[in-house]
Parts: sequence; structure tokens; C-alpha cells
Amino acid sequence: MTCSLNPEDARGVYLKTFGCQMNELDSAKMLSLLVAHGYRRVDDPRQASLIVINTCSVREKAAQKARSELGRLARFKRHRPELVIAYVGCVAQHEGGAALAREAGCDIVLGTGDLDQLPQLVQRVKRHGSRLALTDGLGRDPFAHVLHEPTGPSAFVAVMRGCDNYCSYCVVPFVRGPEVSRPRPQILEEVRHLVRGNAREIVLLGQNVNSYGKGLYSRLRFADLLRSVAAVPGVERVRFVTSHPKDLDSALIRAMAQVPQVCEAIHLPVQSGSDRVLRRMNRGYSTQRYEELIAELRESLPEVVLTSDLIVGFPGETDEDFERTCELIERVRFADFFSFIYSPRAPARAAKWEDDVPEPVKLQRLQRLHKLQRPITMDHHRALIGHRVEVLVSGTSKLDPAHLKGRTRGGQIVNFVPQEARVGELVNVLVCAAHANSLSGKQC
Ligand code: SAH
Ligand code: SF4
Ligand code: F3S
Repeated sequence: MTCSLNPEDARGVYLKTFGCQMNELDSAKMLSLLVAHGYRRVDDPRQASLIVINTCSVREKAAQKARSELGRLARFKRHRPELVIAYVGCVAQHEGGAALAREAGCDIVLGTGDLDQLPQLVQRVKRHGSRLALTDGLGRDPFAHVLHEPTGPSAFVAVMRGCDNYCSYCVVPFVRGPEVSRPRPQILEEVRHLVRGNAREIVLLGQNVNSYGKGLYSRLRFADLLRSVAAVPGVERVRFVTSHPKDLDSALIRAMAQVPQVCEAIHLPVQSGSDRVLRRMNRGYSTQRYEELIAELRESLPEVVLTSDLIVGFPGETDEDFERTCELIERVRFADFFSFIYSPRAPARAAKWEDDVPEPVKLQRLQRLHKLQRPITMDHHRALIGHRVEVLVSGTSKLDPAHLKGRTRGGQIVNFVPQEARVGELVNVLVCAAHANSLSGKQC
């Protein structure tokens, strides 16, 4: 089948994003640059003259998805040799020129620190037909001065890029480079821009937001930044991800408790409930320290919604280690967590260690975690029945188009019967029912 493009599609860009919120934000920034160069986003790759695949490398499965998406989309080039395909982000950073060599359909390989070069490189490819790999910008903030438009009432703002923690399982420091904090004026300028575009909620992003300020000329801490962002007129809610337990301090807990715009929600990945495993993961805290932090958080903010990440099957994780994780879950009673099967990721240090937990055991452990957590999440949800919660309306409910949906300050999804509410508004909802992954109610 031959596909010819309408003249107005000659600048259509199809953008596919894998991975975390930082990648979503990078995609929004790339799109903003491309729009300034005359492109417009299309939802069908057959309508595109440029395809961008923004990739994630955190687990092998994610990297595989990116590779197979590249293979799938590269097939379009057989009939449309003028189509330009860019493979960008974390896997691209890791693979570099090897990706160009392997995948004949790929024209551009672009690393995480070079993403702002995309429009120029596309032009070069179109003019000269050359193929290029650029991955040497690691440690740079490619989007220091690139603004993006909010796509809804909630908008991401990066407060830092990269990571210096080198958790032994994690590839992020290698594909995202060293931690670099953005200066406060730059962050606030971006927040003001997003609010002018009708964003109401600002989600501050970083691999470890709690260590914000390292290397900046001023001795600014994350808690100070949070207060400044909350003070921007029009900002009604502030959230942040991800917090690292080793850098969570009382100043942040105080700011969370004192600043009304800061939501009562914290994602605090614990990874394991075994101190032996935590040491080998290079996490920099013990379970005791972690639980002390939780106690302090809950004392200052009794309604705080606490979520986490857990890894099962880390090299050397014994049945006893895993039992410690289960016990921690029962003690802490997270609102919810993401759990992952360990995936060796060279050049992260643990990739050199024997991946010795058999796959079926890893799977059993994952299932056990889910089984343990399900009733706890339900209990948290049920405790809200009969309560009034504040919801930021984000759109129509998937379950019933006559209903709206949004999130509570704690981050829980609520589908509700509206009275007079529009997307972008903060409304009060009476919670009537609790479900495994959401709440339902009616506007009150
Ligand atoms: N900077 C954040 C997020 C890192 S990636 C943080 O430190 O929490 C998100 C989650 O993926 C991690 O919290 C961890 O639970 C998981 N993860 C990272 N590397 C992994 C690996 N090699 N195998 C399995 N899960 C992994
Ligand atoms: Fe990875 Fe650890 Fe950095 Fe998070 S803090 S990105 S888990 S190295
Ligand atoms: Fe994010 Fe995946 Fe990169 S989690 S930082 S997109 S490796």
C-alpha cells in the first residue's frame, strides 16, 4: 500500500512516549519546539512526515517495547522513504549509534540531553538525507528556556534533571546524567506561563526532588521552592514526584503541613522491607528510618496519602527478605504502591550480580504483594465514604459520559455526578462508594 500525504500533513508529527512523567514532559517540550517550526501533532502515524519515539530504559520490558515500536513504525518507510524517524530519550541515550546501525529505518538517534536539537536535525536529514546519532549532551538541560502549553488543568514542571544516587539496580543516572537543579526564577517563569494557559495544579518533577538545590548558587531547599511555587497567583494545588526517603527532611514535612496549596500526598519509594536488601540497593536508609519518617509525616499531616514503589526478586533476595517486605506493607499500610519484578540493567552495578531469584518465584512474590495490598487500598477508599473531598475536574468519566472525573488532593481518582462543574474547576464531592482503583460520588 502506498500512502501519499495531503499537503497539510507534510508537517504532521506522530509522537509516541514511553516511560515516566519526565519523558512525558520532554515530549511536550519537543512538541512545543516542533510546533514553532511549523509542525502539528497527528494521531495516525500514516499521516505523519516525522515520527518521534521517546523511549524508557528502566526495565528490559520497557526497552523492548521501544525497540519493537521502532521496528513497527520503520516499516512505513518502505512505502514512504521521505518519512523521518527519530528514536529519542533514555534507550536512545544508552544505545547511541548502535541503534542507527541496527535499524535501517531509523534516521535520528537523540539522547536525553540533546532533545532540543530535534527540529534542526530533522531539517538536516531532510536536506542531505544523512542519518545521525547525537548523545553527548548528558548533564545538560536541553529545555532550560523552552516553554510548553498545558494540555489540561494539571501541568508538569521539572525542578531538576538527572540523578546522582546510583541505586544499584537503576539505569537512570546513566541515561539521564548527573543531577542538575534548575534555578528558581526559571521554574517560576514556567509556572506563571502554565497558569496563564489555565493550569491550576502544578506537579513538580525530579528523580529526587528532596535534594533540590544541590549545586545552585543560592542555598535554596526544596521546601523553599515549594513555598515559592505555591505563592504564584492562580496555583491552586502543588504536587511533587519523586521523593527519596534519604533526603526527606522536616522542612519539607512542615511546608506540606503549612502551605494550603501543597497536596497531602507523597510518593515515597521504599523498594524493600529488608535492611540487608536496602543496603545492597544502595538506598541510604534503613526500614527503621523509613518508618520514623512515615510517623513524622502522619503526625504533621494525619490525612496524608502515602504511595510507594517496591521491587521483588532483587539479586540475593531470600524468602526471609521478602517476608520483611510483606511485614512492612502490613505495618505502613500504604494507600497503594507500584511493584516491579527486578530487571538487570547494565551498566547499573547490580547487573553484574547473579540474577538468582527464579522467574516463577519473582512472579509469586509480585502476586503476593498485590494480594496483601488489595484490602488495604480498599480500606483507605472505604474510609472516605460519607466524606466531602475536593476534586480537580480533569474530564468526562470513562464509565459514564454524563459523569465527570478528577482527583482528590490525595491523588485518588473520583468519578462523580456533577451539578454545575467544568473541566479545570475545583469542586466538592460527597464520596458514596469505594472501588479497587477509584471512588465514586456526587457533587455537593
Ligand atoms: N527516581 C525515582 C524513580 C525511578 S524509576 C525514584 O528514585 O524513586 C521508578 C521505579 O522503577 C523505581 O522506584 C523502582 O521501583 C523501579 N525500578 C528502577 N529500576 C528497576 C529495575 N532495574 N528493575 C525493576 N524495577 C526497577
Ligand atoms: Fe534510580 Fe535511585 Fe536515582 Fe531513583 S534515586 S532514579 S531509583 S538511581
Ligand atoms: Fe523515566 Fe524510564 Fe528514563 S523511568 S528517566 S523514561 S529510563
